[in-house]
Amino acid sequence: MNRIGVVGCGLMGAGIAEVSARAGMEVVVVESSAPAAEAGQARLTKSLKRAEDKGKIGSAAAVLERIRLEISLDALADREVVVEAIVEDEQAKTDLFTQLDKIVESPDAILASNTSSIPIMKLGVATTRPENVIGIHFFNPVPVLKLVELVPSLITSPDVTERSRRFVQDVLGKEAIDCPDRAGFVVNALLIPFVLSAIRMLESGFADAEDIDRGLVLGAAHPQGPLALADLIGLDTTKAVADSLYEEFKEPLYAAPPLLLRMVDAGLLGRKAGRGFYNY
Ligand code: NAI
Repeated sequence: MNRIGVVGCGLMGAGIAEVSARAGMEVVVVESSAPAAEAGQARLTKSLKRAEDKGKIGSAAAVLERIRLEISLDALADREVVVEAIVEDEQAKTDLFTQLDKIVESPDAILASNTSSIPIMKLGVATTRPENVIGIHFFNPVPVLKLVELVPSLITSPDVTERSRRFVQDVLGKEAIDCPDRAGFVVNALLIPFVLSAIRMLESGFADAEDIDRGLVLGAAHPQGPLALADLIGLDTTKAVADSLYEEFKEPLYAAPPLLLRMVDAGLLGRKAGRGFYNY
């Protein structure tokens, strides 16, 4: 596999394009407009320059040469694998998969989504080849975190799953785990209720934020506590994933606590807003 397409060059799409180009693949990235493509190019350049400065790659310019930014999906016609990383919106993603189905020529091409919560089956049935559609869920920051969740739907072909596994493991050098096509997959289904429990603990006055986080860092060897982690993920994203888990399973442990809802309403979204459970 050598020709990869990525749709969306935001936080995740740029990361996926970067690791693919660093692995020697030839990458076409499609953004929705010229300004968005310029922003994507700037994001890629900054990240690769940083990797070069840290000595993680030889030449940022050489990697950038393997990445082409485009604003028309037609540029994806000859791709062997396309990874979609646009906004987490079901209608936008199903529309995109319907278009990709018409544009990507090879009948063997893998059509993958980086979605965190939308059922892969819904994206598959938006195409005439649902057996080629799979979830390949990367973690943020993509160049740093090793894990990829592989999410075949009920009708994804075993051959597509295995080729996707080889792509993430052998080509990109990541570690893959197999996940069911259910909201949250494996990692978020465990992580989000843990974060929500910490928020409930804070909300009820059971313990303060510093003690909750220090407890998990010092007592359970977590690299950061659950409230600092929520600030990093973004409280809006935390709420969105909790909502999709609750919608799927109807279990109280997935219900977003009122404190989280009020903080999202107030715009206290964590690190990116300068304030969440902590000030930045
Ligand atoms: P983002 O908002 O940073 O990037 C989305 C990009 O897609 C934007 O640059 C936007 O211009 C572009 N876009 C929107 N519609 C488009 C279209 N029709 N065609 C081409 N480009 C289009 O979002 P982010 O965080 O990169 O998330 C992308 C996907 O990755 C979502 O499905 C999200 O759930 C998933 N994800 C996010 C993680 C995170 O930590 N942020 C982690 C793992 C998965």
